[in-house]
Amino acid sequence: MFSFLFTQLFLLIVIIFLLYLLSWFWPPDSPWAPWWSTDKKSALIMCKMAKVRKSDIIYDLGCGEGTALITAAREYGSKGVGIEIDPWRVWYAKRAVSFAGFKDKITILRKDMFKVSIDEASVVFIYLVPKAIQRLKRKVLSELKPGTRVICYRYKIPYLNLITEDKERLIYVYEIPKKARSRSRIK
Ligand SMILES: C[S@@+](CC[C@H](N)C(=O)[O-])C[C@H]1O[C@@H](n2cnc3c(N)ncnc32)[C@H](O)[C@@H]1O
Repeated sequence: MFSFLFTQLFLLIVIIFLLYLLSWFWPPDSPWAPWWSTDKKSALIMCKMAKVRKSDIIYDLGCGEGTALITAAREYGSKGVGIEIDPWRVWYAKRAVSFAGFKDKITILRKDMFKVSIDEASVVFIYLVPKAIQRLKRKVLSELKPGTRVICYRYKIPYLNLITEDKERLIYVYEIPKKARSRSRIK
């Protein structure tokens, strides 16, 4: 009996460990990528580089656990909207926002970011794989207002002009150009 239970427990531990290892190779824009998230220190640097102010409305596209939005609200008093597709992360982010006391400042939406309007944003946080960043091109160029700051973590945005970067932490800051592009010309 004891050896049976021991074997079952051992197998469970091995499965959990394998799932953990697998998560490191899973694409970070997948809902099943639990260990790819922005740490608090990087979130703070992102806010500083984006010159976040109290009047800002920050959209985090694929907000995960909501760390970046909570950091911005705590340090700068900004408002935030987190869009997240994974129900577990939505649940976690909502609890984290409530625990931090920012329910009046931060809204977490369980939605597909490609189907949510982002035109209200003055700052946008993005931590997604290049394929997803490319898919966002039309949305970013047609919906965001000129002057909106777009901060990308880990990966660059090929279709925006880089304003500043932190090469060590891989943080890239962009700004939507003043001269709005025609929607029809965006491919
Ligand atoms: C690399 S994680 C980044 C999480 C968070 N922004 C951070 O920096 O900690 C990417 C997140 O995007 C979410 N995601 C992927 N595709 C999405 C979609 N179409 N709509 C909303 N969220 C999405 C994933 O579930 C995941 O939480």
